[in-house]
Amino acid sequence: MKVTIVGAGAVGASCAEYIAIKNFASEVVILDIKEGFAEGKAMDLMQCASLNKFDTQITGSTSDYSKTAGSEVAVITSGIPRKPGMTREELIGINAGIVKEVCGNLLKHSPNAIIIVVSNPMDTMAFLAHKVTGLPKNKVIGMGGALDSARFKFRLAEALGCPQSDVDGMVIGGHSDKGMVPLIEKAARNSVKVSEFLSAERMQEVVEATKVGGATLTGLLGTSAWYAPGAAVSAMVQAIAQDAQKIFPCSALLDGEYGISGISIGVPCVLGKNGIERIVEVSLSDAEKTKLTESAEGVKKTNSLLDGVLA
Ligand code: LAC
Repeated sequence: MKVTIVGAGAVGASCAEYIAIKNFASEVVILDIKEGFAEGKAMDLMQCASLNKFDTQITGSTSDYSKTAGSEVAVITSGIPRKPGMTREELIGINAGIVKEVCGNLLKHSPNAIIIVVSNPMDTMAFLAHKVTGLPKNKVIGMGGALDSARFKFRLAEALGCPQSDVDGMVIGGHSDKGMVPLIEKAARNSVKVSEFLSAERMQEVVEATKVGGATLTGLLGTSAWYAPGAAVSAMVQAIAQDAQKIFPCSALLDGEYGISGISIGVPCVLGKNGIERIVEVSLSDAEKTKLTESAEGVKKTNSLLDGVLA
């Protein structure tokens, strides 16, 4: 498996590191527009190979897409991250142009690649990637739900006072502070619903803390987070590389699923060698349905800002 990561910033580099540590890919190519930056990150990471015991070959390049030729998966992290107080939606003006250009360059050299979009506002960038590449629906995947669900599990475990390995939970909907839909009614501790352990008020606190998970970190770090985003993307790449057939909430282009069409938004997807093998339609409560529909409206509104870029 050859993987390209476009953008050698903190998320891209973290993703490369986790892919290498998990040792499932033969080759990772990191690209960046900043002269020498991707080369430096790649060299630094390769100097971990004997320590962290991986065989993955990591190389870096300054914008030479020919180095990415024949990639099976390409991860797009390029663009600017948000600063404290910014919403992900505010990044659209700059990031849309970047993502469009990156998609074109990637496909020139790797026409069969599965594309994972991380750049924000992610659901809209994933939609844009669909539009500009014309790839089949299964091959353009947005990364948001995998990260948001990890943050949900962190908050659930914190509230329950238990290890994260004891909890299960999923976040669907848009990857935005307002749009996330943590499925708290379905969240469980070792198959027992969390409502057996937590008050309605505490559950609501978990939901709210999850939704602003990225913003909380942006406030603390002064820029967007990278460890969990990198880990979430690498888990998705691994599921594709190993044809794992595992469920991840991903931003997928919908065609009537959940009563939504013509946008990319977070829903449970089975990931395997073809990218999105299938979208799983779980039954939602009326409250969950309403929240997902509202979230879709928000994504549609942000997508409408793409008019200039898509023209
Ligand atoms: C975050 C970015 C990756 O939520 O959107 O940290």
